[in-house]
Amino acid sequence: MSNPSRVIAITGGASGIGFAFSKALAQAGHRVVIADLRGAEDAAQRLVAEGHQAIGADTDVVNPAAVQAMVDKAVNTFGRLDVLVNNAGLFTTLAMRPFEQIPNEEWMRVMEVNTLGPFVCAKAAVPAMRRNGFGRIVNIASTTINKGTPNLLHYVASKGAVVAFTRSLARELGKDNITVNAISPGFTLSDGVLQNDLHSQMGDVVRKTSRSLQRDQVPEDLVGALLFLASDGAGFITGQTIAVDGGSVFI
Ligand SMILES: NC(=O)c1ccc[n+]([C@@H]2O[C@H](COP(=O)([O-])OP(=O)(O)OC[C@H]3O[C@@H](n4cnc5c(N)ncnc54)[C@H](O)[C@@H]3O)[C@@H](O)[C@H]2O)c1
Repeated sequence: MSNPSRVIAITGGASGIGFAFSKALAQAGHRVVIADLRGAEDAAQRLVAEGHQAIGADTDVVNPAAVQAMVDKAVNTFGRLDVLVNNAGLFTTLAMRPFEQIPNEEWMRVMEVNTLGPFVCAKAAVPAMRRNGFGRIVNIASTTINKGTPNLLHYVASKGAVVAFTRSLARELGKDNITVNAISPGFTLSDGVLQNDLHSQMGDVVRKTSRSLQRDQVPEDLVGALLFLASDGAGFITGQTIAVDGGSVFI
């Protein structure tokens, strides 16, 4: 089955798992739109310097005007928008603490970025997808929801919402030939994890021994699932969540 070059927007695409996605998609011949709070243009230029097609757009995913401007930039530059990857999320800057110690404001902020963000982005992207009778939305969830990871209650609840959002939106968009799926990473050595020294706080159980494949997970481990979900071969898969975690949880 052929895999045409798609126009793919990746939120939080300038660093961490998001940049691994941007790079792998660009290397596969897709046209990439990097949407991030910071560093989007620089990240796009790094891909362009390697001979790929990429643009950057400064975007806060909870700001509807900024998200619409990002979608408009994608369509004006590349003529269409085929795939939205809702990857931006608050995780690596969060302190782990018992639920009673999480301030309500922090709960609301995590919900805002991790659940309102994908909602705002989907609302902006779907009209462009509908115009072409084709679309793919891929949301980044987390296997913390399967493990019931403690001391990050706002984060885990937000990612549970992402899976529910994935299923319900899949039902609404099937008639438009738009699929909606999720990828659930395990604990991954992303830029944010390394910068905030989260990996030192996680024990070997989380990082290795709870997995069937007992090693650290890196962002590149996640790109195959995304390339597949963006491919023509995944066209009849929707509403699903794929765990990519070295076989720690089975969902
Ligand atoms: N690293 C892990 O262990 C892990 C595990 C499971 C799921 N995830 C999820 O994967 C995604 C990426 O995680 P990561 O570890 O690469 O994170 P990271 O902190 O390394 O990178 C996050 C990126 O998102 C951007 N971002 C943050 N808020 C934004 C906003 N409001 N608008 C636009 N961009 C914004 C940041 O600028 C950054 O480039 C997140 O959704 C996270 O919850 C991560």
